[in-house]
Amino acid sequence: MNSKRDFISIDDFSNEEIEVLFVIADKMNLLLHRSHGVLAGHLMGSLFLEPSTRTRLSFEAAMNRLGGRVITMSDAAASSFSKGESLADSVRIVSSYTDILVLRHPHAGAARLAAEYAPVPVINAGDGGHEHPTQTLCDLYALRQTKGKLDGLRVIIYGDLKYGRTTHSLALALARFGTDVLCIAEPGLNLPTYVRNRLTAMEGISEHSLVVADENSVFSGEEREALLYTKNPQGWQLSDNALKLAGIAFDAIYVTRLQRERLAQDDADLGQALPPIDARFLSHGSFQDAVVLHPLPRVDEIDHEIDGDPRSFYFRQAALGVPVRMALISFLLGHEMMRVERAPKRDEREWKKASCANPNCVMTKEGDYLQQKIWKDPQERVHCVFCDEMLD
Ligand code: NCD
Repeated sequence: MNSKRDFISIDDFSNEEIEVLFVIADKMNLLLHRSHGVLAGHLMGSLFLEPSTRTRLSFEAAMNRLGGRVITMSDAAASSFSKGESLADSVRIVSSYTDILVLRHPHAGAARLAAEYAPVPVINAGDGGHEHPTQTLCDLYALRQTKGKLDGLRVIIYGDLKYGRTTHSLALALARFGTDVLCIAEPGLNLPTYVRNRLTAMEGISEHSLVVADENSVFSGEEREALLYTKNPQGWQLSDNALKLAGIAFDAIYVTRLQRERLAQDDADLGQALPPIDARFLSHGSFQDAVVLHPLPRVDEIDHEIDGDPRSFYFRQAALGVPVRMALISFLLGHEMMRVERAPKRDEREWKKASCANPNCVMTKEGDYLQQKIWKDPQERVHCVFCDEMLD
């Protein structure tokens, strides 16, 4: 039996596994500048078919710090992808050279597909606008470092929540850990339905649709539609379906940029309407103890004037990517053991009825050689195994 572990979705790890991983990351962080050598003789393949600075370099730094080596492909145009080679064939080949694969790809579900064809562990370093689970590990680890816990926090996720893949994995993880999540999206760019369904399919999580208004005009006096995911709505001042920010203390605000490169034709007119996070924004009482997080790169959604503010944690958050990824690689390569409950496996089945209609799904893009598979949520809704969109 092939017992390899992949890390494709944040749902592939249980909360207990994530907690143990963070203990390993603590150890890695302490030993960061000493040579480990524990992965000497191991080779990582890093395939990045989309631009990356932090994710690729922190994975490669992590592998090097562990004593392993890396081969990398960061320019799809210079590879056989440009000659029309399928993702499955490329993955078969590169995994025959290496012990672990890290893949960033523009299509949703690409890492899931790669995991099917690679005999070695596959890590999803971002698949289109779908998920970015290792960024979520860094985000959760940053929250745990600054707030000491995840349970019972109040976190705002702010910006492009439709195409921002980091926000999807993060919202799913935070809800699971018992954090109240308030999603404030750019107009027209709220969480996709399949993410909302996955959130509300979780036991005890309920969704509230809110209008966020603020007397002190943090939001430029405009009202914003927002979604609140919570296990326990008590404590929020919910009245007339409106939430007054005043009096509510947030632990973090997680800011994302507009993913211009992913905006579909229908969304081409959408722009940045939310105010940037600046000193004025942070002066509101609700953000007195709120850390500011961002997966980076930042464009103009966080003003440079707050870079020196003690609440601005985004650069340190990025630095934590190395110990977190060291922990993940060591675990997937079997050098760290965990005796905790694993995440439940999804019930996946073949599906002959219809193919996925999502134009950005790897199923749609790679086409012919793939067999459509589905999973069913507790409400019996049928989802594509690759991109998680609903099939009807
Ligand atoms: C993010 C990504 O690529 O999804 N960046 C990252 O990996 N740190 C966020 C973004 O590009 O906006």
